[in-house]
Amino acid sequence: SRAIKPVTSVAAQNGLKKFSTTSQKNFKVVVAGAAGGIGQPLALLLKQNKLVTKLALYDIAPVTPGVAVDLSHMDTPAKVTGHQGPDQLADAIKGADVVVIPAGVPRKPGMTRDDLFNTNASIVRDLAACVAKNSPKAIVAIITNPVNSMVPIASEVMKKAGVYDANRILGVTTLDVVRAAAFIGEINGVDPQTVSIPVIGGHSGVTIIPLLSQSKPAVKLSDQAKIDALTQRIQEAGTEVVKAKAGGGSATLSMAYAGARLTGSVLRGLNGESNVVECAYIKSDLTEATYFANPVVLGKNGVEKNLGFGQLNDYEKKLLKAAIPELQKNIKTGEDFAKK
Ligand code: NAD
Ligand code: LMR
Repeated sequence: SRAIKPVTSVAAQNGLKKFSTTSQKNFKVVVAGAAGGIGQPLALLLKQNKLVTKLALYDIAPVTPGVAVDLSHMDTPAKVTGHQGPDQLADAIKGADVVVIPAGVPRKPGMTRDDLFNTNASIVRDLAACVAKNSPKAIVAIITNPVNSMVPIASEVMKKAGVYDANRILGVTTLDVVRAAAFIGEINGVDPQTVSIPVIGGHSGVTIIPLLSQSKPAVKLSDQAKIDALTQRIQEAGTEVVKAKAGGGSATLSMAYAGARLTGSVLRGLNGESNVVECAYIKSDLTEATYFANPVVLGKNGVEKNLGFGQLNDYEKKLLKAAIPELQKNIKTGEDFAKK
C-alpha cells in the first residue's frame, strides 16, 4: 500500500500559528432582491467569491427558494440559503457582513430613474429598517434606483434606529466606472481592464461625471466635441440599455458584474486588504451636496478614507456645477420621505 504523507498546511510548514494575520475571515453576504434581473446573476457571481461563506438570498418572489436550491448545486464553498417574503427577512439579514440591495422596479423606455422613487423608496426603507434591527454593523450597498435618493433614505432610517454609521452605507455607482472603462478601452484600442477612470457625483443623468481628464491611460480623443459626446454617452448609458431592451427592463448583467466587483472589494477591505479603492456614493462634505460619489478606500469598517476627486478641468467644473443642484434635490426627496 502507498505511504500516506501527513497533510501539513503552508502555515504550519512555516511555523506560523493556525490563525496568523493571513487567515481569511468568513463572510455572510445577503442579496435583497435576489430573484430579479440583477439579483440572480449577482448571486451567481457572489457564489464564486472565495471570501463568501454564507450567501443569503432574499426576495418576495415565489421563485426565491428555487434560485437558492439551483445555486446551492454549484461546487463552491458558499452555503446558499433562500428566504422568501417579509416573514423570512430577519433570518436572512441576521449575521450579515454585507447586504446588497437590488430590490425594486426598473425603468421602462420614457421613464427617468426618479419615476421609480414612489415604488422603490418604501422597499429600501423597510429593508434598511430590518438591517438596523438585525445586523446594524453590516455594510449596506444600494443598487436600487434612484440611488441618489435611496442612500439618504437608508441613512435616515439608520439614524432613527440609533445605529447610523456613514461609512457603512454605499450607493453603488460601479456600473458607471465599468462603462467608462469599456468605452475608453474601445476608443484607445486597449484592454478596458487596464483603464482607470474615476466617475464622480451621483448615478443619474447630469449627476454622472466621468473625469476623462484623469483617465489612465489618457483618452485618445483630439477635440472637445468628442470629449463631450463620450461624456454624454457615459451619462446616458443606462438609457441606452433601457431603449435597447424595449420595455424588457434596464441593465441587469453588466450591473450584476459591477455589483459583484463592488461587493468583492468591500469584502477585501473587511478582510484587511489594504489599498482597496472603488468609486461609491457616500455621505460627504466635499461639495454642497451632502452625498457624493468619488473614489474611496474600503477597509475593515467600510469606507476608511474619502480620496476626493482631485483637479477638475474647466469642462468638468461645469459638469460639477450642473450636478450639484440635481443631487441636492434628489437627496432632499429621499430625506423628506424618510422623515415623514
Ligand atoms: P427586477 O424587476 O428584474 O428585479 C427586482 C426584484 O426585486 C424582483 O425579483 C422583485 O420581486 C424584487 N422585490 C420587489 N420588492 C421587493 C421587496 N420589498 N423586497 C425584496 N425584493 C423585492 O429589476 P432589476 O432589473 O433587477 O433592477 C432592480 C433595481 O436596480 C431597479 O431599481 C433598477 O433601476 C436598479 N438598477 C440600478 C443600477 C445601478 O447602477 N445602481 C443599475 C441597474 C439597475
Ligand atoms: C443603469 O445605469 O443602467 C441603471 O441605473 C438602470 C437605469 O435605469 O438606467
